[in-house]
Amino acid sequence: MPRHAFRGAIFHLLADPEKDGSAVETFDDGVLVVEDGRVAEIGAWSELAPSVERTPVEHIDGLIIPGFVDAHVHYPQVDVMGAPGPQLLHWLSAYAFPAEARFGDPDVGRDTAKFFLDQLLANGTTTALVFATAHKVSAEALFAEALARNMRIITGKVLMDRNAPPGISDTAETGYMESRSLIRAWHGKGRLGYAVTPRFALTSSERQLELAGRLLLEHPGVHLHTHLSENGDEIAAVRRLFPNCADYVAVYEKFGLLTPYSVFAHCLHLSDGEWTRLGRSGAAVAFCPTSNLFLGSGLFDLAAAERAGARVGLGSDVGAGTSLSPFATMNEAFKVCQLKKHPLDAAKLLYLATLGGACALRVDDKVGNLAVGKEADFVVLDDKSLPLLARRIAHAPSLPERLFAFAMLGDDRAVARTYVTGVLAHKRP
Ligand code: GUN
Ligand code: ZN
Repeated sequence: MPRHAFRGAIFHLLADPEKDGSAVETFDDGVLVVEDGRVAEIGAWSELAPSVERTPVEHIDGLIIPGFVDAHVHYPQVDVMGAPGPQLLHWLSAYAFPAEARFGDPDVGRDTAKFFLDQLLANGTTTALVFATAHKVSAEALFAEALARNMRIITGKVLMDRNAPPGISDTAETGYMESRSLIRAWHGKGRLGYAVTPRFALTSSERQLELAGRLLLEHPGVHLHTHLSENGDEIAAVRRLFPNCADYVAVYEKFGLLTPYSVFAHCLHLSDGEWTRLGRSGAAVAFCPTSNLFLGSGLFDLAAAERAGARVGLGSDVGAGTSLSPFATMNEAFKVCQLKKHPLDAAKLLYLATLGGACALRVDDKVGNLAVGKEADFVVLDDKSLPLLARRIAHAPSLPERLFAFAMLGDDRAVARTYVTGVLAHKRP
C-alpha cells in the first residue's frame, strides 16, 4: 500500500488517561499518514500539510479512532447470544456446550469464523483474543479466516477433559498434542498468535492443567487464556474439585498458569490476596460488563484491578455477552463503574477499548493507538449515521463529548469504515 493520508478529526490515547495527564491526543483537523501498513505521521493538518504535499489525501467526514481490541470473546457462541440465562453453569450446559458441539465439522467452523470476523470488522474491532472450541479444526478455521483478513487475532483450541459432554471434550494428552501442533502451524504467522486455552478450572483435570503449564514453558510468548472467578456456584465447585488449593487463583498458580502472557476473563469475586498475587504475576484481566450483567455474575471492581497493577482490557464475552459492539461494552462498563462509584470519562472508556486491551494482550507495541510506527488499524465513526446520535452530537460538539455520545448511543451503524494496516476492510453498506 503506497503512502496515503487521511484528513479528519482524530482521537486516540498515548497512555492511561487516569494515570497520565498528557495521555489524550486529539486533532479537530488532523492528518494520519499511512505507509507500508504503518502510521508514518500523525498531527494537526496545519502543521503536517507541507509534508503531505505529494501524498494522496482522503478527506474523512467523521472521527478517526484506533481499531478496537476485544480482550475476550467466544466465536463459536455467536449463534447463542442472548439465550436466556439464568446463570453461568446452566447457561453453559443449556446453550454454549450444544452450540460448540457443532464445531467438529470444519464447514461449521469456516462459515462461523467468516461471519464472526466480518462482524468484528463491521463493529470496528481489529484485534481480539478469542475462544474456539475443543475441536482442533475450530481453531484452524479461525486462524485461516483471520489470516485472509490480515486481522490481529489470538486464539487456541479449548482444553476440557472433564465435566463436559463427550462431543466437546479432549483428553489431557490429545489436548497437549493438538495445541502443540497448532502453535507450530500458526503462532507468529502473519498477525496471528496462539493462546493455550483451558476453559476454566472446572473442566480440566490436574493433568491437563499441568500440561497447559508445560506448553507455556515450552513456547515462550504464547498466551494463556481462561476464565476466573465469575460466578458463586463456579467458585464453590472449584473449591470442591481442588480442596488443597486455598482459593481459585491458587489453582492456576499451582500449574504455572499465572504469567505475564495470561489473560483471565471476569475476576469478579477475587479476594484482596488473590488480586495481589494476580497483579504481581504480570497477568491481565478482561472486563466483560455485558456478560457479567446478563448472567447476573457480578460487578467488576476496576479500581481493585488497577490497585493490584493488573492490566485491564474490555471483552464482549459473546455469547454470554449481549453485543459485539465495543460501544455497548463501553456503555455497560461505564454503568458498572458508576455503581462502583468510579465514574469513567470518554478518554478512559476509549483507552479500555483500545490501548488498554492492547496492553492486556501485550500487543501494545503494535496496535492500540495511532502512534508513529504502529500498525495502521483504525476506524472512521460517522456522527450522522443515527438520527438520535446526530441530534445528541449537535448539542455536544467537543471531541470528548462526541466520543462519549458514540459510546452511549452508538452501534455498528456508526462505524462507517474499518481499516486494517491502512487497507479498507469494511465499509458500511
Ligand atoms: N466459564 C467457562 N466457560 C465460559 C463461557 O463459555 N462463557 C462464560 N461467560 N464463562 C465461562
Ligand atoms: Zn468467556
